Amino acid sequence: MNDKDIYELIVAEHNRQSNTLQMIPSENHASADVFAALGSILTDKYSEGYPGQRYYGGCEVVDKVENLARDRAKALFGVDHANVQSYSGSPANAEIYMALLDPGDTIMGLALTFGGHLTHGHKVSASGIFYNSVQYQTGKDGYLDYDAIEQMAKKEKPKMLVVGATAYPRVFDWQRLREIADNVGAWMLADVSHIAGLIVAGEHPSPAGIADVIMTTTHKTLRGPRGAMILCNGNPSTPLKKVERTKKNLPTLIDRAVFPGMQGGPHNHQTAAIAVALHEAAQPDFKAYARQVVKNAKKLAAELKSRGFNLVTGGTDNHLLLVDLNNIGVSGKEAEDALSNVGITVNKNTVPFDPRGPFDPSGIRLGTPAITTRGLKENHMVQVAEWMEQAVKNKADSKKLDLLSKEVKKLALQFPLPSDK
Ligand SMILES: Cc1ncc(COP(=O)(O)O)c(C=O)c1O
Repeated sequence: MNDKDIYELIVAEHNRQSNTLQMIPSENHASADVFAALGSILTDKYSEGYPGQRYYGGCEVVDKVENLARDRAKALFGVDHANVQSYSGSPANAEIYMALLDPGDTIMGLALTFGGHLTHGHKVSASGIFYNSVQYQTGKDGYLDYDAIEQMAKKEKPKMLVVGATAYPRVFDWQRLREIADNVGAWMLADVSHIAGLIVAGEHPSPAGIADVIMTTTHKTLRGPRGAMILCNGNPSTPLKKVERTKKNLPTLIDRAVFPGMQGGPHNHQTAAIAVALHEAAQPDFKAYARQVVKNAKKLAAELKSRGFNLVTGGTDNHLLLVDLNNIGVSGKEAEDALSNVGITVNKNTVPFDPRGPFDPSGIRLGTPAITTRGLKENHMVQVAEWMEQAVKNKADSKKLDLLSKEVKKLALQFPLPSDK
């Protein structure tokens, strides 16, 4: 690369990732094949529209790329229709709202401070500005309180029930949520961004055939490039002028909201990389990977608990853990910094009913997708928990933290990033 400045920064980031353990649960390490597609000549091509219906010439190859990605997504998730053009998860959610709602309509999602995403109706995001957002919470125990959600839905009568989270360690009861949405005539969106990889591997129940629309980012447990997909059932795109907001028209409504509603030209290199990731996720070894992600998370949860850490909901069913540090007397920021100093990257996070507030929260959120991709197993989770305890306890002892960081680095270097293999 001729640009030395950027080259050096890429090398620095490569070294940071390989010398340390990435435990932010929304991150993963994509394969060399995914990187190859992302860095390919497909980036140069404009192709506004959809395969067979483009506003540009020369799309005969990218049409095939997009069709392949769509077909793989449909097969993997078991749905009739897939839109693979959304630039990322946040625009994808905005596109779904645009497809099915009018400005000012009521949406009901999990509050950010209880594990929901910004785009589920948080007041400073477009979802909270353009729509009337009402937000539900978890119960005191950290679990979704389905009775409370039902009562709120009856009172608020949302047009859209948004289900999904960025910091929820337990399984979603899709059927119960469907019933709640049906009782008030609401659309149901399942945002499975975090758990998509677990779903396709059978490690978490699928909302396919239950939720009206499924959205997932492609760069988390699914282990692809940054991007997103919107999945639904219904008839494929029809050339009708006015498309009623009915279930059978969902594919057309979604496609029109993505383009021309919200976006211009699709990122064909990204679409190709999504197709690669979907192919990888359909292989038997991906099932084993997802199983190991959950096993590692459960083992880490047990090890942290035995060291006095308090886990929201008492453990995990999936890839992530939410640790409430109030009993340890350390803030989320302090723990994030201490762990970062030893080479374990996590992020500070609110816990349900956080006494400290969102800017200086009481917890940390961590997960096993990336370290499992590198090959770490349950026995390593014992070591990771031990390092975490030591780092948090010795947060002010720079010598101790330095020693720990050498140990972490030694282990990390035994497990190369997949793109280096
Ligand atoms: C549940 C959920 N939805 C949507 C998003 C938004 O995705 P992106 O960051 O790609 O816009 C995220 C990202 O963290 C997420 O966790």
